[in-house]
Amino acid sequence: MRPQALAADALDLADLREHIDTALTDFLCSPSSRVPAQSRRPHGGHDLDRALAWYVLAPGKRIRPLLCLIGWHTVRCGRQSAGESTALRLAASLELFHAFALIHDDVMDGSERRRGAPSAHRAFAVRHGDRADAEAFGRNLAVLLGDLALVRCDEILHSAGLTEGQYRVVLPLVDTMRNEVVLGQYLDLRAAGPPGGDTSLALRVVRLKTARYTVERPLHLGAVLAGAGAGLLEACSAYALPLGEAFQLRDDLLGVFGDPAVTGKPVAEDLRSGKATVLMALAVRRATRPQARLLRRFVGDPCLDEEGAAAVRRVLEVTGARTTVEQMISTRYAAAVAALEQAPFLPRAAEALRRIADSAVTRAA
Ligand code: IPE
Ligand code: IPE
Ligand code: MG
Ligand code: MG
Repeated sequence: MRPQALAADALDLADLREHIDTALTDFLCSPSSRVPAQSRRPHGGHDLDRALAWYVLAPGKRIRPLLCLIGWHTVRCGRQSAGESTALRLAASLELFHAFALIHDDVMDGSERRRGAPSAHRAFAVRHGDRADAEAFGRNLAVLLGDLALVRCDEILHSAGLTEGQYRVVLPLVDTMRNEVVLGQYLDLRAAGPPGGDTSLALRVVRLKTARYTVERPLHLGAVLAGAGAGLLEACSAYALPLGEAFQLRDDLLGVFGDPAVTGKPVAEDLRSGKATVLMALAVRRATRPQARLLRRFVGDPCLDEEGAAAVRRVLEVTGARTTVEQMISTRYAAAVAALEQAPFLPRAAEALRRIADSAVTRAA
């Protein structure tokens, strides 16, 4: 039976999302809302600014800013509770950090599509297709666009109206989150190559490159802004870490078995680039000799065609790797929901977190 706390009304996620989108639109589309008049730049509103607004406002799930706002609502009645607009700007800053991470991720992964459209470097390459160096130029502009997203992330954070006390708790968490993502992305790149069977390294990458910045740190940031103490932050982590892992494990399954028309991202790219996912590590550990030979032949081949990808998918199925990853997602989902039942969160926030958990693990995009 569901405990009382989880049976309550949830925070209205659609409404929170609308507020997040409005905050992002105001910030990205009207430079005057970004900086005080005395320090306004003479060059506001260039091409990269327009590209960034287009990129950030494209339909994404907004899970990080939503979790930040829900984190704030877990203790919203706390004495040091900040104003709503501050929480909203902190939340929006996470979407800008995410944009930075995605734009650079697509360059590093050589991904052609994102959110149902060409990825930033591809869009720039097409737009500048008359140049002899269009591909390199597109990648360079995407690196800059990612940099700009990080700059804007800092700007919205600095204009959020945090008190000195809030800065002292928020900034170290922001720094930690950024370090975690960089390390996670580094390990992700380093581990890629001929398929190997190291599931614990693969899980470490999942935690660092995704789980923390997607679920745990956004919740922590919202919660500390509202004055949360160590106990509440631990309760956030008990929910967030298993859910964050489940989120990336689902992403790995969608990356191989998903429908690109729904995910908005290419399929089989992880196979072409030889990404060391948990899914692949499990298959390698369980493969027969002929299956291992097949994996070695196809995984990491940048020219892998649909027939080769289908052969790899069959190995992922018959070794039971796909089923095990599904089970790992279910176990982690159950742990996250069980943690919620123990957590000292306000009921409407706890129920919103349960709904987020549901959609994070059952999503098709
Ligand atoms: C994609 O994140 C990158 C990962 C960390 C898996 P999302 O799945 O949250 O992407 P959007 O923002 O909804 O497009
Ligand atoms: C992305 O991980 C992680 C970050 C953006 C930090 P992936 O490379 O696995 O995610 P997708 O599949 O491209 O969204
Ligand atoms: Mg990627
Ligand atoms: Mg990547």
